[in-house]
Amino acid sequence: MESERLVQIEVNGALCRSSVPVRTSLADFLREHHGLTGTHVGCEHGVCGACTVLLDGRSVRSCIVLAVGADGSRVDTVEGLAGDDGMHPLQEAFQQHHGLQCGFCTPGFLMTLVEVLGERRGLADEEIRDAISGNVCRCTGYQGIVEAVRTADRTWERRVDGDAE
Ligand code: FES
Ligand code: FES
Repeated sequence: MESERLVQIEVNGALCRSSVPVRTSLADFLREHHGLTGTHVGCEHGVCGACTVLLDGRSVRSCIVLAVGADGSRVDTVEGLAGDDGMHPLQEAFQQHHGLQCGFCTPGFLMTLVEVLGERRGLADEEIRDAISGNVCRCTGYQGIVEAVRTADRTWERRVDGDAE
């Protein structure tokens, strides 16, 4: 029988603690053990980006990270994006610009972009396209997503950094 290990991860500010088989991915830890199904699993090979979450602030593909490897870390998922004052600026911008259709890829795009825009704004279109080049969308053709990022780039400071407009 596969051995298990106790894993404790702070997810969106709350402690998630489970004993899991040592080969459990971080994606499965979130989805299967803690009901956080906002993180989607597509390719399971680290290629499509659907499973992207932040691990100690850096974007990772949670299908190829072992839960035991994330033990003691902090993870942010799409479930933690919206706050008491409503949706995150990126979520609002995706809605406004129809940056999604089926929505399967959307959590991964959002978490990738949280890291990117959190570090730097004022991105040129080529930089936006480069930033999302590791995320695959089978539906939208990407134009709406790029437009959403342009908008979020402008609205980010007001809502996330708390700077008054
Ligand atoms: S499901 Fe993880 S990269 Fe595709
Ligand atoms: S919106 Fe359907 S895969 Fe991206």
